[in-house]
Amino acid sequence: MNDEIYPVPTSWAQEAKIDAARYAADYARSLSDSSGYWLEQAKTLNWITPPTLADESSFAEADFGVRWFADGVLNVSANCLDRHLATRGDQVAIIWEPDSPDAAPRHITYAELHADVCRLANVLKAQGVRKGDRVTLYLPMIPEAAVAMLACTRIGAIHSIVFGGFSPDALAGRITDCDSRIVITADEGRRGGKAVPLKANVDAAAELVTCLDAVIVVQVTGGDVPMKTGRDHYYADVMAAVSLDCPPEPMSAEDPLFLLYTSGSTGKPKGVVHTTAGYLLWASLTHNLVFDYRDGDIFWCAADVGWVTGHSYIVYGPLANGATTLMYEGVPNWPTPARIWEVVDKHKVNQIYLAPTALRALMREGDSFVMQTSRASLKLLGTVGEPINPEAWRWYHEVVGQGRCPIVDTWWQTETGGHMISPFPGATALKPGSATVPFFGVEPKLVDADGKILEGAAEGNLVITRSWPGQMRTVWGDHERFFQTYFSTYPGTYFTGDGCRRDGDGYYWITGRVDDVINVSGHRMGTAEVESALVLHRSVAEAAVVGFPHDIKGQGIYAYVTLNVGEEPTDELRQKLVKWVRMEIGPIATPDALQFTPGLPKTRSGKIMRRILRKIAEGDVSSLGDTSTLADPSVVDDLIANRVS
Ligand code: WTA
Repeated sequence: MNDEIYPVPTSWAQEAKIDAARYAADYARSLSDSSGYWLEQAKTLNWITPPTLADESSFAEADFGVRWFADGVLNVSANCLDRHLATRGDQVAIIWEPDSPDAAPRHITYAELHADVCRLANVLKAQGVRKGDRVTLYLPMIPEAAVAMLACTRIGAIHSIVFGGFSPDALAGRITDCDSRIVITADEGRRGGKAVPLKANVDAAAELVTCLDAVIVVQVTGGDVPMKTGRDHYYADVMAAVSLDCPPEPMSAEDPLFLLYTSGSTGKPKGVVHTTAGYLLWASLTHNLVFDYRDGDIFWCAADVGWVTGHSYIVYGPLANGATTLMYEGVPNWPTPARIWEVVDKHKVNQIYLAPTALRALMREGDSFVMQTSRASLKLLGTVGEPINPEAWRWYHEVVGQGRCPIVDTWWQTETGGHMISPFPGATALKPGSATVPFFGVEPKLVDADGKILEGAAEGNLVITRSWPGQMRTVWGDHERFFQTYFSTYPGTYFTGDGCRRDGDGYYWITGRVDDVINVSGHRMGTAEVESALVLHRSVAEAAVVGFPHDIKGQGIYAYVTLNVGEEPTDELRQKLVKWVRMEIGPIATPDALQFTPGLPKTRSGKIMRRILRKIAEGDVSSLGDTSTLADPSVVDDLIANRVS
């Protein structure tokens, strides 16, 4: 329990867009008059045909579906660009801060961004891309990533961004799953002074897929990369060959906007599908109100565009709101742990949005790296991706924000499109470690294991009982999996996969995943994915992977591996397997610990008892619970004796 409360600063209570009274009134109305509330909010978008319908969703199996504003017509790039041209064409849309502090930043105005987006849209058309086609983006953190996203939306193509840290195998799987003919990539990315071989990875992925016939390559480092004649084109060349004129394609509100692969508790990553109007409204409204964004503010979301946070809060939310959004190519602690705060000073950043893992890593380096900067421009601090421990929260508040800046701890998911539970800086007293209260239209509930709804102060599984505009619409190519994954566990509700506590003030405290998803440095990872990668190795018979508490990463990856008969459990093989997983999935999936074991703890029906594996990984071997139902209880002693610490 944590009883610390930070009241809303008076100036915020007086000046913020949402104060406590407004929050209470609008929240109540968003539930009692959902249609009226949402049709009114929808007016903040620019429509070709405004919608007359709001929510037509149902979570029940019989008439299951998620639909919002279905009779409306609009275009996302027109909302993010064209509508701003008359009033803020010369305003900077994107500030780009390069990896190296010695290289020159770029400032791209709305007019310039509009021109590049139109050109790239014409390039895509010339490559034969049509409305509804999928375009894979495998790009570093460069403005061309935003250009590529918006160019897709301009012609109604569906983008699928694959994080640049994913391996050729992971990339190939994602290209194949959505049958994408075209990839936009870069020669190399730059991160923390190192080059990331993006084009080489695309070449390797291309060997594994059959659908790919065009690759557009942005030259970032000028590195020498082989170009395949007929398939590969340099971005600068194709951009120079097309016209600037590309009218936005009218899109139906429910046409798919993008898909983004994310890890679940079972099987391969699923393509989360977001559609046009509901997603854009959710991203822009949450960006506007949760960050209390004001005209002229410089907003910095320090995520990668490869994750949903980058989609919603580097690109779509800020640009729909006519904001200036900062995009940073590098990593938080390079060349020194002061870099983030130096970038804040350099560009006079007003709101910064980070993952707790970055804060913990920087906090460990001591306060001096923060104190040597001014940070006077900061008004508000945000966090996302994992629960923030109160110690890191306080450090963020006191040291980084000098006690002046409210912190918005925003809970949400790839599936939700944008913030779901979060403080409003002018309305919500803060409690370190709590994501606090629901956003407008969000109705969270807690249920016990049997699905019984828990009232008042309670702890249980977090479900959402009604749809909201930013909700995902389906799993790409597998609508049944969408229903089964999220709506079958507690019928009639969307199950988040998170555990949660609600305190006596109605504040929500996310306790972490209750399924087999782990959260490593704010990145979602399915334990099943790491297991599949391990068993692909010829020495491995069986593998089980669990998360364990990790000081910096939040959770680390602990792998238990049973070898094939005749294989020796050597340190060399251990290192090989760790490297193998990195190669199969990418560096973010690198196991932190790998233990060889002659057997895994299984029930008589053959089910692996993960509870026991988690306890051993945590080092909590005194409370393993009942092991008598195991087929062979003696494996537990061996697991404990050979624990890797
Ligand atoms: C976790 C990232 C606690 C949670 C936007 C969720 C959080 C998963 C928070 C989604 C937070 C995200 N406090 N936990 N403020 N934000 N999570 O899809 O477990 O990458 O289910 O979306 O991250 O991760 P995803």
